[in-house]
Amino acid sequence: GDRGLTDAIGRRFEYLRLSLTDVCNFRCTYCLPDGYRKRHGRPADLSVAEMRRAVGAFARLGLWKVRLTGGEPTLRPDFEDAARAIAAVPGIRRIAMTTNGYRLADRAAAWRDAGVSAINISVDSLDPARFAAITGHDRLAEVLRGIEAARAAGFDSIKINAVLMRGVNDDELAAMTDFIAERDLSLRFIEVMRTNDNTAFFKARHLAGQTVIDRLEQAGWRRLPRAAGAGPAVEYAHPASRGRIGIIAPYARDFCASCNRLRIASDGKLHLCLFGDGGLDLRPLLQQDADAEALIERIRALTATKAPAHRLHQNNSGATPHLASIGG
Ligand code: GTP
Ligand code: 5AD
Ligand code: SF4
Repeated sequence: GDRGLTDAIGRRFEYLRLSLTDVCNFRCTYCLPDGYRKRHGRPADLSVAEMRRAVGAFARLGLWKVRLTGGEPTLRPDFEDAARAIAAVPGIRRIAMTTNGYRLADRAAAWRDAGVSAINISVDSLDPARFAAITGHDRLAEVLRGIEAARAAGFDSIKINAVLMRGVNDDELAAMTDFIAERDLSLRFIEVMRTNDNTAFFKARHLAGQTVIDRLEQAGWRRLPRAAGAGPAVEYAHPASRGRIGIIAPYARDFCASCNRLRIASDGKLHLCLFGDGGLDLRPLLQQDADAEALIERIRALTATKAPAHRLHQNNSGATPHLASIGG
């Protein structure tokens, strides 16, 4: 029979986003505007054994891809152990990660060696001073060296994430597309999403994905057909570019219709959506291998209740403080 994980409206989940920590060493203006998170009083991050059990249960439900997220996942001293343990789970065929890139130049080859085959890297500006103003750290040169290290390390997929903000970096569209002209990279422009922490920022800086699409089409970029099992990005190609562009526009109608992912936050809570649910605690069932069957049944039952669409258009009603808390 079909043992796949689906919800009430037939969406199929093949992809788990697992947050290793909600701590980050950057403080991007749209994400952590008030600076670093404090650890005090927060539940401990999932251990490698807890992560292995969680991923094992999802794999038994047919899920085959895991993306390691944060916060900044590589702040965990056991990051590579976690990647290795998850890569060894039967049924897991692809380990991806999302990073701010601050250690990429040194560690790209080690992460590839630990089983990570796809990597997404945040680069919100190609101007060093702006990069520093957005992230709080003057690290652009290292991150760019990191991208070259990742290319040399042989990842199957390298994607660059840029959150486009009105009046901050929206004049860099051409510079960013030039950056991928000679590189086999996917560059994704992400719409700022409103969270509880960034409401004023969102109002001042949000730029609609459609505005970006209009500018790309004027410059000769053409929309690609949507591949089966594709992520949230709508993709564009240009005859004169080696790279591709993706637009992630969660405020677009129908964005949620093709959602193929579930999330586990670093405190062990299952989030059926990035926005609008409070998180369902899996941790009690992650303590011993003997609970595997109960865990599988709990995941199956919870997933069936996933809402048809996110609540980004509403007031967020307390659900998502900032994206680092759930892993973006
Ligand atoms: P792949 O499709 O595996 O490449 O991953 P991705 O593009 O989803 O991953 P990444 O971690 O690079 O996230 C890029 C942006 O997309 C971030 O801003 C995420 O918060 C956002 N994003 C990813 N999934 C969702 C989703 O289900 N809903 C919303 N609203 N945003 C998402
Ligand atoms: N809106 C849009 N993207 C965000 N990210 C973090 N917070 C937000 C937000 N409020 C992005 C980061 C990174 C990815 C994991 O999530 O820039 O590329
Ligand atoms: Fe850290 Fe990523 Fe949030 Fe920036 S967007 S503060 S790098 S978690």
